Amino acid sequence: MRILIEKNYEKMSRRAAQIIASQVTMQPESVLGLATGSTPVGMYKNLVEMFRMGELSFKNVSSFNLDEYIGLNHKHPQSYKAFMDSQLFDHVDIGADQVHIPCGMAEDVNMECLAYEKAIESLGGIDLQVLGIGHNGHIGFNEPGSSFEARTHMVDLDAVTIQANARFFDDVDQVPRQAISMGIKTIMKSRKVMLLASGKDKAEIIQKMVHGPITPSVPASILQLHQDLILVLDEEAASLLAGGEGLYDTA
Ligand code: PGA
Repeated sequence: MRILIEKNYEKMSRRAAQIIASQVTMQPESVLGLATGSTPVGMYKNLVEMFRMGELSFKNVSSFNLDEYIGLNHKHPQSYKAFMDSQLFDHVDIGADQVHIPCGMAEDVNMECLAYEKAIESLGGIDLQVLGIGHNGHIGFNEPGSSFEARTHMVDLDAVTIQANARFFDDVDQVPRQAISMGIKTIMKSRKVMLLASGKDKAEIIQKMVHGPITPSVPASILQLHQDLILVLDEEAASLLAGGEGLYDTA
């Protein structure tokens, strides 16, 4: 595990975007795993800026998002497809057919999950998976107690997650209760994983994820076993980690 600690959210976002840009420059046909949430917003801004400056092209990139709410169609403003369009896809040269997000309106959710896994495999697997982390340690929508063996599947959202996501809806009752999420096994199969976290409120879960036991009650703790994991944190999110400043390896 490598841990990069940046002074603040802006620097963390810039650094994360540079890591994606390096991946895409070295391998223009990269398959990226992408995440929603507040944390990667700054990273997407930087990527759009790099594209505008002519430093980066997504022409040959494919992407797979981690998750989508069940019951929201892709045009719904709170769907993760709408989020991705407005943050990244509408502003760069990635083709609509290169972008993959689970369909939250699928009639047969199990078939949708299987097809999603197949689509990832048919493109050779994910080269670089971006993750945020929930206050409860979830990655994607793999909530505490999730099986480490799960592939893309339907999940019931944790009360903590519903509450945290209520800020994007008019009221908490409008937050969907279920989602389709890549499973932990899907995530662990990615060749590289980059997890971002920012702010004091993430310090405790980052500490548990890095130094705590590997347990389904902290789903992100399984990442301790990933062979190519980089954490990009700001100083606040890193404030409870043992060790010094700057760049260090915990492996
Ligand atoms: P956040 O969400 O980036 O909005 O904090 C992260 C997550 O829940 O995975």
